[in-house]
Amino acid sequence: MFSTAFLDLPPLQGASGVVTLPGSKSISNRVLLLSALCQGTTVVHDLLDSDDTRVMLAALRQLGCGVEIDGTTVTITGLGGRAWPAEAIEFFMGNAGTAMRPLTAALSVQGGDFTLKGVPRMHERPIGDLVDALRELGCTIDYLGNAGFPPLRIGQPQLQLNKPIPVRGDVSSQFLTALLMALPLAAQNRDIAIEVVGELISKPYIEITLNLLARYGIAVERHGWERFVIPAGSRYQSPGTIHVEADASSASYFIALGAIAQGDGIRIQGVGADSIQGDIRFMDAAAQMGAKIISGPNWLEIQRGAWPLKGITLDCNHIPDAAMTLAVMALYADGPTTLRNIASWRVKETDRIVAMATESRKLGATVEEGPDWITIHPLPADQWQRASIHTYDDHRVAMCFSLAAFNADQVPVRIEDPQCVAKTFPDYFEALFSVAHTAATNIPVICIDGPTASGKGTLASRVAAQLGYHYLDSGALYRVTAHAALQAGLTLEATDEAAIAKLARSLPVRFEGEQVLLNNVDVTDAIRSEQGGMNASKVSVLPAVREALVQLQHSFQRLPGLLADGRDMGTVIFPSAPLKVFLTASAAQRAERRHKQLILKGFSANIDALRADLEARDARDMSRSVAPLKPAQDALQLDNSSLTIEASVEQVMVWWQSRQVFT
Ligand code: DC
Repeated sequence: MFSTAFLDLPPLQGASGVVTLPGSKSISNRVLLLSALCQGTTVVHDLLDSDDTRVMLAALRQLGCGVEIDGTTVTITGLGGRAWPAEAIEFFMGNAGTAMRPLTAALSVQGGDFTLKGVPRMHERPIGDLVDALRELGCTIDYLGNAGFPPLRIGQPQLQLNKPIPVRGDVSSQFLTALLMALPLAAQNRDIAIEVVGELISKPYIEITLNLLARYGIAVERHGWERFVIPAGSRYQSPGTIHVEADASSASYFIALGAIAQGDGIRIQGVGADSIQGDIRFMDAAAQMGAKIISGPNWLEIQRGAWPLKGITLDCNHIPDAAMTLAVMALYADGPTTLRNIASWRVKETDRIVAMATESRKLGATVEEGPDWITIHPLPADQWQRASIHTYDDHRVAMCFSLAAFNADQVPVRIEDPQCVAKTFPDYFEALFSVAHTAATNIPVICIDGPTASGKGTLASRVAAQLGYHYLDSGALYRVTAHAALQAGLTLEATDEAAIAKLARSLPVRFEGEQVLLNNVDVTDAIRSEQGGMNASKVSVLPAVREALVQLQHSFQRLPGLLADGRDMGTVIFPSAPLKVFLTASAAQRAERRHKQLILKGFSANIDALRADLEARDARDMSRSVAPLKPAQDALQLDNSSLTIEASVEQVMVWWQSRQVFT
């Protein structure tokens, strides 16, 4: 996840490959509860790992369900046909609405001595309409705090099933979902009818519930959207195995990506055209705009069809969330696109009509808006602006505008507060970068070099963290090469140059955070020693070895950008890097810092000797014939002798920002 203040997307040129999307939250928690109510075991594949599902799993365990977790596959052994716990149980629901509502209903219909609590915010989220319906049915439920809100205490019910159960449909469709999932527990001998009071909102979510109930053997009769009947004799039956579909709204960004980007197409794994989620109908709208889409049971493949895309006018009431993605596709169309019947945009995470209009205008687009519609005009080449997109703590705004990076003018796009995508898709940008591509010249590199012990590694990795960029510690590559050479029985001298170079050319090295792995073995400590540094120095003067490591170093230049630290980063490896920094801390200062470090680690050290060592090493490094230590011609010098690390990071960020101006 990118938890940086902003994320700069370089201009993107194409996309191809496979993305596997995270499972849908709504489906995950429904499937867990339904599996728990069955007899026998259900293997649930591709379950979403999120706060809400963890809450549900914990509650099911408390009830005595078998829960075995193996990655995203969870095996549930249900309670069907077994005794429910007789002792008092207190459940903690966190802030998980998708667990609180259906569990309240199931526990109340089954009966017991149960208390349901949550975080303070959960105690402000209404549940009165559901409790009213359950009480009507004969359930025993008491409010432990404010009437109408959790926490709740549930007792034994005296079910009265002879009349229809009324439930309000205009506050949250989750109340109806909760009843639909709980009532089959009581439908052995008679039909049970539910009647919706008021206009039912979010019908697509009720469709998901009905679909899943059918998978678990419950065939609910639906009469319009007002009356639902659970037939007598209904019994939960495990489907044995079930796959949780990927989130269809999340899929919209990659469907759009396939329609916009040049390449061999995008394959989305985890959701198909026969999805039970309403937002999957986004694919029809995307196809209308020009996308070529084919689909199988659990996948979609999208390719660019019409280009430019075709402007459309569409009633978007059935796909309110995914329709936002159409607004960004509209920038790439041949005429205006009007999205109608989107009044609900105004009351979501933010006023999404205002947000989409404001941010599209920043990019240069002409946009008109009304109370429940928006018209976006295409943005021709030569008119795209470098914009910093405000995201309003709205995951969808952030994901939508990432698609603006494919603009014809090759301008980068800044996404503010990128971590807001965590609401539904924490690794959205990682997924985007795994399929998007662009010319290497578009991927920014910042080079940082300086004498030994100048703190360049710390500075480079901190700046990388602030920008969400990759980090290349090139010194580590020389250290690992030397280590591998010694392991292979080679000397580090010129006589073995060719053999060491051969090793270096296909070095099985991997970086995992601070750890360096060679052939999957952790060699971090071994290569970080003084001896490791000396060995690295030896192999680093062998021209064939330097040449052999060039390709590996280039391979670190990946989206969204790179911080490269080391000797020849700005001169040889990335000569056209847009920012190069050369540290110039004095030997006295560096000796003092190293002294502190060593003392902290419990080593004894002499500051004068350290300083003499450093000066000797500087002299050697500067005068050596192969890759001497010297600043690139266009490097900015940073004397960090009297700067804290934070101040040095700040200075590099100021330099970088001055070269990356966004409106
Ligand atoms: O930065 P460091 O201490 O990990 O570097 C180890 C040795 O490798 C040091 O002698 C400099 C050399 N080196 C190099 O020649 N070229 C680089 N790009 C990085 C390091």
